[in-house]
Amino acid sequence: MAAGNHHFLFLVSQLVIIPLLFQHYSFAATQLVNQVCQDTQDSDFCVRTLSADQRSGNADLRGLARIALELSSAQAKGTQDQIQTLLSRQPGPDFKSVLDHCTINYAGSVYALQQGLQSLDANNYSTANEMAQVGWENGNDCERVNSGSVKDVSLTGSNQIMVKLCDISRVVTAKLETGK
Ligand SMILES: *[C@@H]1O[C@H](CO)[C@@H](O)[C@H](O)[C@H]1NC(C)=O
Repeated sequence: MAAGNHHFLFLVSQLVIIPLLFQHYSFAATQLVNQVCQDTQDSDFCVRTLSADQRSGNADLRGLARIALELSSAQAKGTQDQIQTLLSRQPGPDFKSVLDHCTINYAGSVYALQQGLQSLDANNYSTANEMAQVGWENGNDCERVNSGSVKDVSLTGSNQIMVKLCDISRVVTAKLETGK
């Protein structure tokens, strides 16, 4: 059981590390990627992350929205699993209450990001944008409770990446919605 959990956490950490590794063989960022990323909270992270996906090379705004929402969704699911693993280890009451709070946040994020992808497919960009925003807000709320007395570093790491990915998703979908 412990070995299983350990293996699982290793996989989760891979999920988080992969975008960082890819920067070494990243493709040159397109003009559109550079332009879009200027409006995000962490533009270096945005350029690195979008460029690491080969599809970004000839992606339009809609293509970038798909990449961003897919990455957000995958990171949200990975973090959701990580929270469940941490809960299964009988945490103390303070940490348990953080994890319970984030469990609700992540149920919201995972659902919203799935809806966001479906809305994108339906060319419903305003709803896609709202859903990315819901993912972002839930991540920030999880961060808020986790930054209190406990502050679990592994959760913060995964959660902050989820927030940054949702931020890219909301910026790109907002541009799709307004057409600029
Ligand atoms: C977009 O989706 C929302 C929620 O499902 C819906 O209320 C709205 O009518 C849709 N907009 C368009 C343009 O289809």
